[in-house]
Formats: sequence, C-alpha cells, structure tokens
Amino acid sequence: MDYIKEILRLKEERNAIIVAHLYQDGDIQDIADMVGDSFELSRYCATTDKDVIVFCGVHFMAESAKILSPGKTVLLPAIDAGCPMADMANVEDLRKLKAKYPEAATVCYVNTTAAIKAECDICCTSSIAEKVVRSVPNKQIIFLPDRNLGQYIAKQVPEKEFIFWAGFCPTHNALSIMHVKEAREAYPDAVLAVHPEAPPEVVDLADFVGSTKQIIDFCTQSDKQEYIIGTEEGILHQLKKKNPNKEFYMLKYRFICPNMKKTNLENLYEALRDMKHEITLDEETIKKASLSLERMLNVK
Ligand code: 13P
Ligand code: SF4
Repeated sequence: MDYIKEILRLKEERNAIIVAHLYQDGDIQDIADMVGDSFELSRYCATTDKDVIVFCGVHFMAESAKILSPGKTVLLPAIDAGCPMADMANVEDLRKLKAKYPEAATVCYVNTTAAIKAECDICCTSSIAEKVVRSVPNKQIIFLPDRNLGQYIAKQVPEKEFIFWAGFCPTHNALSIMHVKEAREAYPDAVLAVHPEAPPEVVDLADFVGSTKQIIDFCTQSDKQEYIIGTEEGILHQLKKKNPNKEFYMLKYRFICPNMKKTNLENLYEALRDMKHEITLDEETIKKASLSLERMLNVK
C-alpha cells in the first residue's frame, strides 16, 4: 500500500488538513500541511476553513483544536497518544487550590485536559508563558501542571507570586546536570538549547531556553556551527532540513516522548479512511475551555 498517495487522496476527498507537532516522526511532518509548536498549531487550527483537522500529536492538542474549532471534525490517528503531564492535573485538586488562593489567577499550560482548561482563567504554551503571566493583573498565579516551566517563568517575572503544581514531563524531567556535563565535554564548541520543561538545574546551564519552534529559529538564525539539543528528538527533522551544514547533538541518548511516536503513516491513513478517532467534547466544556484558549491567542 502506498500510504502517502492514499493519505493525500483521502485528504482531498475529506476536505481535511493534516497538522503535526515538531516531535512527530519525519515522515509525518513531511506529509503535514502545517508543522509547528503547540502555540502555532493552536493558532492554525483556530483559523482553518477545512472540514476536518487530522491532528498528529497527543490527545490534549487534538482537544484544543476541537475547542477552538467546535464545528469541525477533529481526528487523532493514535487514540492512545496521551500526555502523562496533562494527566497529572485533576479538577478536584485544582478547585481546592483555587479555594485556598482566591486572589490568584489560574494559568494552565496547554498540556492539560479540556476539563482543566475549563477551570482556568487563561492558557499558555511555553513560547508565550511569560507574556501570559504578565498579562494577568493578579499578583498571585496558580501555575499548572508543569512545575519546571512554572519555575522558569517565575524567574522571568519575579514580581509575581507563584503557586506551583507538582506536574512534570517524564521525557524532559529525565534530564540532569550529568547529561549537560557529558555533552559539554564531548562537544566543547556547541551551543546548548533546551526546552523549559527540563529541570531548573539543567535550564540554568543552557545557552538558550525556548519552545520547540523557538529552538529551531534560534539555531537557524545563529551563526554557530554546533548545537546540543535538550528536547525531544523529533525536532531534529526540521533542524537538519533548515540547517544542512550545521551539526546537532542530542543532550540525552534516546530523548523520546513515546506518545508522540504513536502516530504513523498507517494509522494516519486509517484515520482519514474511517474518519477516526473523533474528538468529542460536551458544549459546556467547549464554551468554558475556549475562553482560556482564546485569551491566550489574544495576548499581545
Ligand atoms: P512546544 O511545542 O510548545 O514547545 O511544546 C512541547 C511539548 O512538550 C508539547 O507537548
Ligand atoms: Fe507530554 Fe512531555 Fe510528551 Fe510533551 S513531550 S507530549 S509534555 S510527555
């Protein structure tokens, strides 16, 4: 079966677009209409005029697409592609925390379920988290679920008081100072770029900290030759495409998000063929969660 040919044919037939996160495998990124970080993909899905959005990523991303485009059919090819960090936040505990800090604004990372987004004032992605936190008038901020990202943003915005959640990304949180030491020794001329989901002690040692897209832009615009990359290895696909003459080394061996790797050409084809797996949400959740996502998209 020529999956690529069939996917392109079905895409036209269904009036669909395929979007892919930068952690997806290279063949998925290459067939997508749009490849980007969490923020870019949210913005893109909010504005598409196609009937169907096929989301090559993880569950919360497809949910966000559905919240922002409720009239469209949103499909997730790998229905079991979740995000362990998103599953670390629950509504009951969030309500208790909100009751304890009634003056605080609740800022949730986009890596959350729709139910959590519906409980929060505003959403953020790593690329826009600092701006989002600055945009709310409250001095106190309940930031969830990523403690590492929260701590990084808290350092940029010291005038606010943060209440952190104990969530983390298992893929990024596995980084340690030892990885930095070893990589710096092996590649003494390389620039270290890491994602803010990494632990603070690793982020503190980085030369650049940013979202996946920001890391790609940084490496592409810099005139340095060598880079150590501290995020999921799917990012190498675009880094190498845009910078064929530069060298990229991974900060950690097998730096993989297993859930991001669940999408493949076969399940992407099946998603379009059978119109599965459709993301559905109740109207009330969409209404409430869309407020926090739209507020994020409107932050200047
Ligand atoms: P960004 O693409 O926004 O950097 O997010 C990384 C990530 O972990 C998505 O789950
Ligand atoms: Fe979730 Fe981490 Fe995978 Fe992103 S990389 S989807 S935060 S587990």
